[in-house]
Amino acid sequence: MTDLPDFEQSLMTALRAAVEFRDDAPANPAFPASNAAELRTRFDIPLEENGRAGPAVISDLIHAAEGGLAGNTQPNFYAWVQGSSHPTGVAADLLTSAWGQNAGLYQTAPAAAIAEEVASKWLLDLLHLPATASVAFTTGATMANFIGLAVARSEVLRRIGYDLEMEGMVGAPQITIIVGAEAHSTVMADLRHLGFGTRHLVVIASDSQGRMSVADLADQLAKINGPVILVAQAGHINSGSFDPFDEIIPLAHKHGAWVHVDGAFGLWANAVEPLRHLSQGVELADSWSVDGHKWLQVPYDAGFGIVRDAEAHKRVMSITASYLTASADDGRSPSAYVPELSRRARGFAVWATLQALGRQGVRDMVLGHCQCAKHLAARLNEVPGIHVLNDVVLNQVALAFGHKGPDDKATKNIIDHLQAENLHFVLGASWHSHVILRISIISMLTKIVDIDSLADAIIRAWRGQS
Ligand SMILES: Cc1ncc(COP(=O)(O)O)c(C=O)c1O
Repeated sequence: MTDLPDFEQSLMTALRAAVEFRDDAPANPAFPASNAAELRTRFDIPLEENGRAGPAVISDLIHAAEGGLAGNTQPNFYAWVQGSSHPTGVAADLLTSAWGQNAGLYQTAPAAAIAEEVASKWLLDLLHLPATASVAFTTGATMANFIGLAVARSEVLRRIGYDLEMEGMVGAPQITIIVGAEAHSTVMADLRHLGFGTRHLVVIASDSQGRMSVADLADQLAKINGPVILVAQAGHINSGSFDPFDEIIPLAHKHGAWVHVDGAFGLWANAVEPLRHLSQGVELADSWSVDGHKWLQVPYDAGFGIVRDAEAHKRVMSITASYLTASADDGRSPSAYVPELSRRARGFAVWATLQALGRQGVRDMVLGHCQCAKHLAARLNEVPGIHVLNDVVLNQVALAFGHKGPDDKATKNIIDHLQAENLHFVLGASWHSHVILRISIISMLTKIVDIDSLADAIIRAWRGQS
């Protein structure tokens, strides 16, 4: 029997710490205060033969993690494209753990299966994707892309009479994979995991914003015989740009290709009327990935792998065994869409976060972040020597510094200065052979006032240096 007093006290200890952590958030330093050695010392306590009382363990955990928590639940976090775990989603997540459901099958977790079913419907509706598409609830966009590409691999071979599920990759007809020159690194990882490697990919030239060239794609397609998968992108990691879907998808379909769109954060533009011109035509694709834990603010980990052909999706991902049964009137079987059988009931937190935000809440948040990005770019563009390198169309701003154009040393100095100041969590990256200060505006807490504080800090740092 559950030791209820121990359970309740453990939860209360955790709850108090959770609320204090969020209450303190604006006062916390931007960067984690402890280094790895300090964290190791705090976590590496003896593992005794006998177990301990829950509340004491939870208190020790809170102490051990202190100073080692990154600031992505704060409004001043701009380092990576990371959401800030909506409080209602966090509460739903706590229940998810307490309920302890294994959302593999409808029978093992009926409520979890139906929560996924309903949240899928809401997501497809919000994103303007086909209502009959299927949705896998994944750990993130990397796994969502993996699923889209795995279904693509099987389906393009099935269309030419090859049964990949039965025959495997040994002796399979060659599939040509086409990617944009600036596809996200995780797409490359997915292609490696799926056995495509990276050497034989057909890489399409991209423009100054990282968008795939339509002319180059047309040239390359004309040279290819046999099955093709095209991987396109909604939301470039540095510029926020979108591939020209309304041109490249019909072109690829004319050659019988499967088109997968990596839309980890950018696909949310398709939910927002004033931004939909960016993603025009994206609904024509065959599969899509989008994260829950980025723009939607679902607690980690949450992503969605969406496939137009739900039957192909299930054929590739389903696991069968005599003891994994379902009757006709059962609801969704969550594991039929993902590579795992046993899995966390991610649908609860997604359902709750969507309810907490509401349709307009999602749209306002996404648009608000894009307005913040434009505001930041406008303020910085006024200052000689600060260069906004991208067309700011979404939530990403790529910055470089230098009197006579981008100067890596100057940019690096500004990044170092802002990091030492510890008011804003910012990082550098590299893009088109330049060091950049890349600003990602995606925390649900970030508002124009925070962007003004960031702009002031950047301008101060630049004026102090130049
Ligand atoms: C464009 C793009 N694709 C894929 C990913 C991978 O997403 P995740 O970290 O959720 O697996 C990211 C992450 O930033 C991304 O920006």
